Amino acid sequence: MPDFSRRQFLTSCAAAGMAVASPSLLVPARHASATPATLIRAGTRTIEVNGRAATVYGLMQANGTHGLIAEAGGPFQVRLENGLDEETLIHWHGLTPPWKQDGVPNVSQALLSPGGAHNYDFLLNRAGTNWMHSHHGLQEQRLLAAPLVVRGPAEAREDVQEVVVLFHDFTFRDPAEVLAGLQGVEQVAQAPAAPDHAAMGHAAMGHGAPAPAAGGHSGGRGVAAPAGAHLNDVEYDAFLANDRTLDDPEIFRVERGGRVRLRLINGAAATNFWIDLGGLEGRLIAVDGMPVEPVRGRRFEFAIAQRLDIALDLPKNEGAWPIFAIREGERARTGFILATASGAVERVGGDADEAAAAVGLALEGKLRAAQPLAGRPADREHTVTITEAPGYVWMLNGKRHGEDAPLPVAEGERVEITFRDHTTMAHPMHLHGHHFQVVAINGKRFPGAVRDTVLVPSQGSVTIAFDAVNPGKWALHCHHLYHMNGGMMTAVEYQT
Ligand code: C2O
Ligand code: CU
Repeated sequence: MPDFSRRQFLTSCAAAGMAVASPSLLVPARHASATPATLIRAGTRTIEVNGRAATVYGLMQANGTHGLIAEAGGPFQVRLENGLDEETLIHWHGLTPPWKQDGVPNVSQALLSPGGAHNYDFLLNRAGTNWMHSHHGLQEQRLLAAPLVVRGPAEAREDVQEVVVLFHDFTFRDPAEVLAGLQGVEQVAQAPAAPDHAAMGHAAMGHGAPAPAAGGHSGGRGVAAPAGAHLNDVEYDAFLANDRTLDDPEIFRVERGGRVRLRLINGAAATNFWIDLGGLEGRLIAVDGMPVEPVRGRRFEFAIAQRLDIALDLPKNEGAWPIFAIREGERARTGFILATASGAVERVGGDADEAAAAVGLALEGKLRAAQPLAGRPADREHTVTITEAPGYVWMLNGKRHGEDAPLPVAEGERVEITFRDHTTMAHPMHLHGHHFQVVAINGKRFPGAVRDTVLVPSQGSVTIAFDAVNPGKWALHCHHLYHMNGGMMTAVEYQT
């Protein structure tokens, strides 16, 4: 079974030049109604982690392809089937569909019962590296997530090899148990942590983290979070790149001197990473699927739910180049390998030499949108405060989801939202149905990236701007799965 799913994943994602867009998505839009929908089935599969079999969820096409590669300008015609024995609903993270096809239970759509199906049909109006994942309960921690790449017409013609990699954090525990463990112990008053305590995460800060899991990834060698803050909530058994650890990483065969476009997706439930290109230098060309003015570098901050498109020009020699994702504050890492036909692949360990720094906004502050919003003053400004309360409760504007008051907007407005984080953690804030531009960090304005998920650091503020052009009621939440389940979700609601 692992072989089967791996081979299928390679087919769908690795061999990008040759991939494998679903035929129904290649026809011009005007023929759309005549084409059959692509079936995507939520189901279970077996992978191997640390030498142990694990039954996880997945989103497979009829031919076994995990996820979907589609063409910009074409239709998104998908029949989503629930092959699980529990309810589910899938959100198309990064797409901007009509509201009722957005896949958020109780906000845009009804949950799918086991055996049920929903049909989706809308225009893919822009290219980008996106993903799909469950928006129900804690299913995302069980890997109910897959790539959703929308390829632009120019990209499809380029002589560039695409490498699509979805990252996860993985636990053998029941995610409900993880959440219960986080909720179990009342928070103590937050005192600024000494650096060696900060590295211990919630255990030190009184959130009641479960005992460190096996795997040697606990925080003893960690780095300090910014003063008074802490980084990781959950101890994991492994970190995965396309379902695999560095014990048995995916190897992408590349051309000597070839051009590669990494399409990296942080599908982790609760982990911010650093992408480490090892011996290579890359150019970051898009974030969350939206183009930015290229930024050269070897290490890139990569918050939960974000995507990074990185262009690489490979050396002219034979070789093998590991690409890592290192958990912030720790040494634990996962990754994959680019290797030429006779490049010798050496074993690389699951721990970096040093713990990675905290993921913050150093990169964010450098990003500039390649296609910024039109210059225009805000018609409406909202502030969203982020606070926490004992029992692992996380709130937006002082309310948990369910008691919250959605933020009103009106169609046609330029809207700005300022997030102010008064908690001890950073929060990857995601708005559905729109792309926003990051326009200020800690009150300092700049024309930042256009994207859909931005990290708001502990004790910091971030302002985003967007044009209200997609009427409906749209989820606005922290993409840390346990924070979201702890209440950290509201909505932006168009007034009629
Ligand atoms: Cu990635 Cu509310 O979603
Ligand atoms: Cu959060």
